[in-house]
Amino acid sequence: TEPLKLGIAGLGTVGAGLVRLLEAHGARLAAALSRPIRIVAVSARSRGKGRGCDIHEFRWFDDPVALATDPDIDVFVELMGGDEGVPKEAVEAALKAGKHVVTANKALLAKHGVALAALAESNGVALNFEAAVAGGIPVIKSLRESLLPNSIERIYGILNGTCNYILTTMEEEGRSFADVLKEAQEKGYAEADPTFDIGGFDTAHKLSLLTSLAFGTEVAFDQIHVEGIEKITQADIESADDLGYRIKLLGVAMRTASGIEARVHPTMVPKHSAIAEVSGVTNCVAIDGDFTGSMLLVGAGAGAHPTAAAVASDIIDIARGLVIAPFIVSTRDLKPHQRARLGEH
Ligand code: NDP
Ligand code: HSE
Repeated sequence: TEPLKLGIAGLGTVGAGLVRLLEAHGARLAAALSRPIRIVAVSARSRGKGRGCDIHEFRWFDDPVALATDPDIDVFVELMGGDEGVPKEAVEAALKAGKHVVTANKALLAKHGVALAALAESNGVALNFEAAVAGGIPVIKSLRESLLPNSIERIYGILNGTCNYILTTMEEEGRSFADVLKEAQEKGYAEADPTFDIGGFDTAHKLSLLTSLAFGTEVAFDQIHVEGIEKITQADIESADDLGYRIKLLGVAMRTASGIEARVHPTMVPKHSAIAEVSGVTNCVAIDGDFTGSMLLVGAGAGAHPTAAAVASDIIDIARGLVIAPFIVSTRDLKPHQRARLGEH
């Protein structure tokens, strides 16, 4: 069988993690899928950088856009990050060239999701983004597949590993905000610009994607109320503790009588609740479906290996021939105001 050929742009925390994962599990996956998955080409900013993974067998591209349209690849894997410029151009070019795209880039999708989904649909290719929300937790697949029979009433959770790591480490070890943020950056959890994490914007990017999937594309990133954790002090954490609460940065979206409400803000949760127990870089997503009832998915929300596993799961879907509309509702079926609300400006 012909291998599924990958071009990977971005060899940082997640990209290098994916190279290592395919090295470790490639043979087993090839047997399970009856089709080998093969990296054929890679791109990053600096060719000479040490990356903790072996890339010498792959063709090197200085330009990710050239990689995205290379005739030899079937799937373009975008792991650079950023909502404009090269990553956007490369994803657009790949979709236009009829390549499947897998990305972990929630900022790009929160801003340009509908336009990119429309490009994917019109070219008959996949645009998969399991890793964009809650790291290793398979929440995108759950909403697109297993939970599709339900009407979702509410979806909420801890969607940013960096913030949860900061809040829990400040509480458990009494360390300063700045000190723990620095550690989260060193561990590869934080965004290139950590303001996205601590300002709540990364949670809002993710919530906008979950909201689209859960409620049929009703709420856009720019309509989400966003408040971050920058102003949370050790004194706040101690006061909450005295009252029997922990402070968590939550993203919450729900149906209300007046439409879908979506918001991101620090929240006091009772210490004995399951969500209060979610510590460190762990994320959780609570989903209330009308037929399934309530469930809580818990797992690693960031980091090289959990995120790489989510990226690989998207590649596996493509190897199996599964191509579904990125946001469930086909962009062709959206009314103009819904398209606008999903972020296509
Ligand atoms: P890193 O900063 O670790 O890596 C980014 C990589 O992209 C680097 O290899 C960099 O090259 C390359 N790159 C960036 N811009 C360009 C460009 N213009 N041209 C060519 N190469 C470029 O990021 P992460 O791996 O942490 O994140 C990647 C994506 O995954 C982001 O969208 C992020 O939001 C998302 N994500 C990250 C998670 C995490 O835990 N880290 C979890 C879930 C999603 P070089 O190495 O040479 O500088
Ligand atoms: N910076 C993000 C976080 C990466 O800390 O959750 C995972 O999306």
